[in-house]
Amino acid sequence: MFFYVNFFILCYTKNGDSMNIIDIINKKRKDGILTFEEIEFAINGFLNDEILDSQMSSLLMAMVINGMSDQETFDMTDIMLKSGDIVDLSSINGIKVDKHSTGGVGDKTSLIVVPLVASCGVKVAKMSGRGLGHTGGTIDKLESIDGFNVNLSEESFIKQVNEIGCALISQTFELAPADKKIYALRDKTATVESIPLIAASIMSKKLASGADKIVIDVKVGEDAFMKEIDSARELAKLMVKIGKNKGKEVVCVLTNMEQPLGNHIGNALEVHEAIKTLNNDGPKDLVSVVMTLASIMVSLGKSISIEDAKTEVEENLRNGKAYQKFKDMVAYQQGNIENIPVSKHVFSIKSSKTGFITEINAYRLGMIERSMNANRFNQDGLIDATVGFVLNKKIGDYVLENEELLKVYLNTNDVNVKEVLDCFEIKDNLAQELPLIYEIIK
Ligand code: URA
Repeated sequence: MFFYVNFFILCYTKNGDSMNIIDIINKKRKDGILTFEEIEFAINGFLNDEILDSQMSSLLMAMVINGMSDQETFDMTDIMLKSGDIVDLSSINGIKVDKHSTGGVGDKTSLIVVPLVASCGVKVAKMSGRGLGHTGGTIDKLESIDGFNVNLSEESFIKQVNEIGCALISQTFELAPADKKIYALRDKTATVESIPLIAASIMSKKLASGADKIVIDVKVGEDAFMKEIDSARELAKLMVKIGKNKGKEVVCVLTNMEQPLGNHIGNALEVHEAIKTLNNDGPKDLVSVVMTLASIMVSLGKSISIEDAKTEVEENLRNGKAYQKFKDMVAYQQGNIENIPVSKHVFSIKSSKTGFITEINAYRLGMIERSMNANRFNQDGLIDATVGFVLNKKIGDYVLENEELLKVYLNTNDVNVKEVLDCFEIKDNLAQELPLIYEIIK
């Protein structure tokens, strides 16, 4: 009965022509260009349960196969953006700059970049998500700090950013619910891999978060969403265009995700590594990505060159102002920095051979970590913040047989050593070193 009613849902355009979802699917199937009203009809109808999952997934598949024009992508972004709350940050003085990462194992950059940028006088009012799948989320990492409150009211959030320059909270607002519903369907129907759909999805949420300027870290590599530099560049260019269409400056940085970022993987362990980095003792790759993202954010916030911004950022990392800002943020959000427990059950895994590390499969390490309860299998799952890995070797390092490759922090049954060792490829010769920062696109 429901299907029968749904089949005949009609709507009228401004010209008085009728619209129905079957015609819209057919039009896109034949590689037509959809109007704003047709996309709006489909998305809002799906959000209101008037259009079936099967119909929306057919339309999405036609979009994946036939592509979307820039105008269709702008329209889809706009409709999803307006489907929920749009955060108003206008009561925070000055330019607000946000950052986003397309996600990677060991990516704890927000924990460092947010206070570092704020210490240079640029406001960052950041809302982050929880981890799902093989990568962790910033909110789960922050919650490993005893007492840290990620659920500030809108008023406290704005007050904190005005007073100390930054805050990192969980999404209390309902940002782009149409994207949330569509993304869940895409995940089940093999319709994730489309550059316009990914760009519209990311940008609808970022634009709804209310910042004036946005820096996006697009991860590239075997362990990232974007496996190839060409597709990552295409995605980045499209997101910059969507920003321009909305009057917001967006800069994308293409960064290497061929191995975990930094040495620590796991919520509490990553907070420890972030603190070390803020104390000038961070691993080279993590420091390099952090410095690049922070310099671009400061240059956007202060309208200065990236080189001048980099000088300020380096100085504030060196002189401890960035770490002081991190401590201020943790104190404002009732966290106790002295108490970030990690598991006491530590197991050392040794190399089975001598040679150069040529590959570390971050995706598989992330999945093993998830099986240790570090990450959730579904949105409501509980996690263990104290578990994870600390890598002793990265790609390019030389390792001797029986030398430690990594430490495992765990609370579950023994880890499958062979499975972990299989994540490492060790060869007689060094692999060609790939750049860490590929390109900046603006
Ligand atoms: N991340 C998103 O938010 N959306 C996508 O479509 C893909 C990655």
